[in-house]
Amino acid sequence: MSQLLVEGGGRLHGEVRIQGAKNSVLPILAATLLAGDRVELQGCPRLRDVDASIRILQSLGCRAAWEGDVLAVDTAALNRCEISDILMREMRSSAIFLGAILARCGRADLSYPGGCELGPRPIDLHLAGLRDLGAEIREEGGFLHCTAARLRGREVVLSIPSVGATENLMLAACGGEGVTVISNAAREPEIVDLQEFLNACGARVSGAGSSAISVEGGHALHGCTYRVMPDRIAAATYLCAAASAGGDIFLRGANEQHLSTVTALLREAGCSVTGDSAGITCICQGPLLAMRPVRTAPYPGFPTDAQAVLMAAVLRSRGVTVFEENIFENRYRHVDELARMGANIRVAGRIAVVTGVETLHGAPVRCTDLRGGAALCVAALAAEGQTRISEICHIDRGYEDIARDLRSLGANIIREEAGH
Ligand code: EPZ
Repeated sequence: MSQLLVEGGGRLHGEVRIQGAKNSVLPILAATLLAGDRVELQGCPRLRDVDASIRILQSLGCRAAWEGDVLAVDTAALNRCEISDILMREMRSSAIFLGAILARCGRADLSYPGGCELGPRPIDLHLAGLRDLGAEIREEGGFLHCTAARLRGREVVLSIPSVGATENLMLAACGGEGVTVISNAAREPEIVDLQEFLNACGARVSGAGSSAISVEGGHALHGCTYRVMPDRIAAATYLCAAASAGGDIFLRGANEQHLSTVTALLREAGCSVTGDSAGITCICQGPLLAMRPVRTAPYPGFPTDAQAVLMAAVLRSRGVTVFEENIFENRYRHVDELARMGANIRVAGRIAVVTGVETLHGAPVRCTDLRGGAALCVAALAAEGQTRISEICHIDRGYEDIARDLRSLGANIIREEAGH
């Protein structure tokens, strides 16, 4: 298994171009099924989850392959409406294909997506919303057998602003007759990116970014060339790396409006963070100050995906910072690994209390999940000595090459391939 070796203690200095957004390109890849045509995606990150989506598209009879830096997808030849259990289990968010397959084929058979390290990942809101639009869904033996002879537009109200459910319903509604309004929709920037992609394919979607999204179904869609938005969580990760180790960095292509709750907290902790049309500059001198409580919430609240990396950044801060994880049940799995490096963190249910320590020391640690693994990298940059990070396949799901990106910011980090 590959590992990351980090020599901590040095300040960061340099520039990195922010990769395309994982949580935008995954629903967009599902949406290509609605185009039934060639789509060229620019700025698509090379990730394990993107590879899994490519395999799903190919299993449905579609073409999907890299052409240089462009991911070219052509779904004209789609000839299947089932996704195998193995493929469904490869990626937690594979449920996002359900709405698009139903809209394109009128039926879909797939297994329940696996849970993940963050705890159960139910899709009850996805299924309830699709049934509201006229789908018949039979759950049997871990499989979903779905038919939708006719999807009809109507108002669908989400009990919580689920990102995945919002996206699934947007895609299904494109295949429905009439207008669908999704109320209490998720407002994440990735939802806006999906809307812009769909409209570039000839759809009529509006309201993304607000709690009410309107989809005028029944339009035949076509291919397009589309550039994926920058990954705001990758940007948050590298800002936290600079906060953790100290430094002066520039994140080219990052959009500060997408992560203003993160940059506001870093400013409170004493960092200088400024965004412009080219990217984000972050200068952090000396130990951080403790922050007001960090409560994760649906966008525009503080993103749950940035909780672990911000926690890693404040391990040596002066004072106590309280975290409250309100989105996922099991999103403190990185705490025990950070404690091996000398962190002082106390967890009680959804609350984690971080008391700053003078020093962190390098240690052998193991990734528990995608963002928890990134947090280990952030902490290792501030630790004295060497940190060896194993099970980095988790990190590869969401970061194109975290070692390359951190090295371009001046970090002493290398990837040791398996077998060395
Ligand atoms: C998306 O997951 C992201 N993944 C997650 O990023 C992110 O953490 C999450 O949104 C919240 O922002 C992708 O976009 C691929 P939800 P998703 O549906 O859609 C509950 C990362 O690290 N829920 O908004 O699965 C659910 O259990 C990943 O990049 C139901 O109860 O998130 C969770 O507690 C991790 N029933 C909460 O809602 C449902 O039908 C939010 O989930 C759906 C969700």
